Amino acid sequence: MRAPMGTLLLLCAAIGGCSTRVEGPEATTVAGPARDLALEAEGRRVYRKACLGCHGERGDGNGPGARMLDPGPRNFVAGVYKFRSTSSGSLPLVEDVERTIAEGVRGTTMPAWKSHLSRRERHAVAEYVLGFSDRFGQEIPERLVPPEAELKVPAPTPALIEQGRGIYLRLQCARCHGEHGRGNGPAARDLTDEEGRPQRPLDFTVGIYKGGGRPVDVYRTFVTGLGSTMPSFAEALPSEDERWALVHYVRSLSRKKGVLEYLFGRQTNWE
Ligand code: HEC
Ligand code: HEC
Repeated sequence: MRAPMGTLLLLCAAIGGCSTRVEGPEATTVAGPARDLALEAEGRRVYRKACLGCHGERGDGNGPGARMLDPGPRNFVAGVYKFRSTSSGSLPLVEDVERTIAEGVRGTTMPAWKSHLSRRERHAVAEYVLGFSDRFGQEIPERLVPPEAELKVPAPTPALIEQGRGIYLRLQCARCHGEHGRGNGPAARDLTDEEGRPQRPLDFTVGIYKGGGRPVDVYRTFVTGLGSTMPSFAEALPSEDERWALVHYVRSLSRKKGVLEYLFGRQTNWE
């Protein structure tokens, strides 16, 4: 039996939106995730089993284990995400959330799930987590960074890295990250996230990036910004060449790999 349209729309509103095809000559598609009950059930099952302990019953970041964690688990209700391919303030793409779930948030307690959850489970729980926010289904995420496969990463050369250093100073990354990238710039101390929790700028010399350390990850991070913690530099740095110069400069600061190693050393752990 097919549910009458009115019921479907009510259901859609209740879950925060779905894709509704209206048959007929003036068929339109309302943007939003397609309703898939099996997927939702799977998302809920995975969430309760693997995520609730930290992110909480209601997705507000207040799970039973949360109090001991620094940084605390993300509150999904506001729909403010750090790791996005989308513009500042926009919801993330589902694929962004899937990437975070697969890879984890390095240097924090957020585990990498790729060897514990199947691709479908990760997809299901990504949709489920997004659904904690009322914004899901009402807003269309605005992509800012193209898909990885479309990004052309130039090889790091000494000239490019040197150019990157100039850009780092010009854009005042040092204000927070420090002149030598140690996370100790003059503005570093007073930073908080949208919930008022203290945030420390990354020490680039450690070389562990929450959102991933591949060139495409570092590119995405400063182009889109990190929630309310770090602004987006998309407008301040429109030139593609300059963006890659900055990526290579930042990555060259890692203590594990000095500039020489970065240029000529084994590439094994880099990708
Ligand atoms: C042991 C605690 C813990 C568990 C279990 C856990 N998380 Fe997390 N999660 C965290 C913490 C802590 C952060 C925040 C890291 C930060 O802010 O740097 C986080 C962040 C995230 C983010 C980042 C969102 C953003 O800002 O872009 C997503 C998505 C996420 N978790 C999803 C999940 C999902 C899905 C599960 C279950 C499969 C899960 N987490 C299980 C602790 C946990
Ligand atoms: C207003 C302060 C501020 C400025 C200015 C700033 N950042 Fe950040 N940045 C931060 C904070 C805070 C974090 C850590 C956020 C977190 O841990 O969630 C961060 C993290 C990062 C990360 C690592 C993200 C990860 O995956 O762990 C990169 C890369 C980065 N910043 C690059 C830059 C670059 C390049 C510039 C200059 C164009 C810059 N930042 C300017 C505050 C700032």
